[in-house]
Amino acid sequence: MIKVSNLTKEFLQGQERTRVLKGVDLNIKKGEFVAIMGPSGSGKSTLLQLMGGLDVPTAGDIQIDGKYLNKMSEKERTIFRRQKLGFVFQNYQLLPTLTVEENIAFPLHADGKLTKEKSRVIQELIQAVGLEGIHRKRANLLSGGQQQRVAIARALVNSPTVLLADEPTGNLDRANAEEILRLLTVFHRENRQTIVMVTHDIFAAGFADRIILFRDGGIDQVVSREEGDYAKYLANFMA
Ligand SMILES: Nc1ncnc2c1ncn2[C@@H]1O[C@H](COP(=O)(O)OP(=O)(O)OP(=O)(O)O)[C@@H](O)[C@H]1O
Ligand SMILES: [Mg+2]
Repeated sequence: MIKVSNLTKEFLQGQERTRVLKGVDLNIKKGEFVAIMGPSGSGKSTLLQLMGGLDVPTAGDIQIDGKYLNKMSEKERTIFRRQKLGFVFQNYQLLPTLTVEENIAFPLHADGKLTKEKSRVIQELIQAVGLEGIHRKRANLLSGGQQQRVAIARALVNSPTVLLADEPTGNLDRANAEEILRLLTVFHRENRQTIVMVTHDIFAAGFADRIILFRDGGIDQVVSREEGDYAKYLANFMA
C-alpha cells in the first residue's frame, strides 16, 4: 500500500544544509494502523508530509497504491492527494465560518457537484463521528474534540486510500483523545482503513498494530502487535 524507500529530505537554512530524513525505508500494508513516535525534531512530521505529497523529497521514492508520488508533477500530486489521501492535524484546520456539514463536504467540491450518493456519505459520516445534533453549527463554535471529529469526517469523505494524522490528539484532554482514538479504531476495524498516525502519546500509540520509533531522521525500532513484544515494549516505555 505504502512503500517508502531510501527517503531523504534536506532543508536549506541559510547556507547550511540539514538532513532531516536520512534514507528511510518503510512498508505499510493495506488496512494497517501504524503509529510513529519519537523525539521532537526527529523528522516525524516531515515523513508524514512527504507520504502525503505535501512536500517533495530530496531523494528516494514514495509509492502509494503503486503510484510514485515523487514522479508526479505538482498538479498530478494535488489531484492524487485530493482523491486518495485524508489528513488530520493537531490543530484541526477547519474553515471557521463554515458549518460542520460544509466543512465535511468541502473536499468534494473540487470534483464537481454534490451527488445524492455523496450527500448520503456525508450524513453517514456525521452519524459515525457523533455530530448529528450540531451539523449546522459553525466550526468556530465547536469544542476541540468536536472540531477534531469534524476533521476526521472531512478526511474520510473521499474514502481515502490512506488516512494520515499528525498528532490528532495533541490538543485534546484524555477523554476527548480517547474518543478520537476510538473513532479511528472503528474506521480501521470496520472499513479496513489504512492509518498512519504520528503521536507523542504512548496511550494513543497503543491503539496501533505497529509502532515505529523514529530517532534522528531514521527508524530506530519497529514494534508490532503480532510479534508479541508489543506489551513488553509498552511496559518498558512506560517504566
Ligand atoms: N520547512 C522547513 N525548513 C527547514 N527546516 C525544517 C522545515 N521543516 C522541518 N524542519 C526541520 O526538520 C527537523 C524535523 O522536523 P519535524 O517537524 O519533521 O519533526 P517532528 O519529529 O515532527 O517534531 P515534533 O515532534 O516536534 O513535531 C527539525 O529540526 C525542523 O526544524
Ligand atoms: Mg511534528
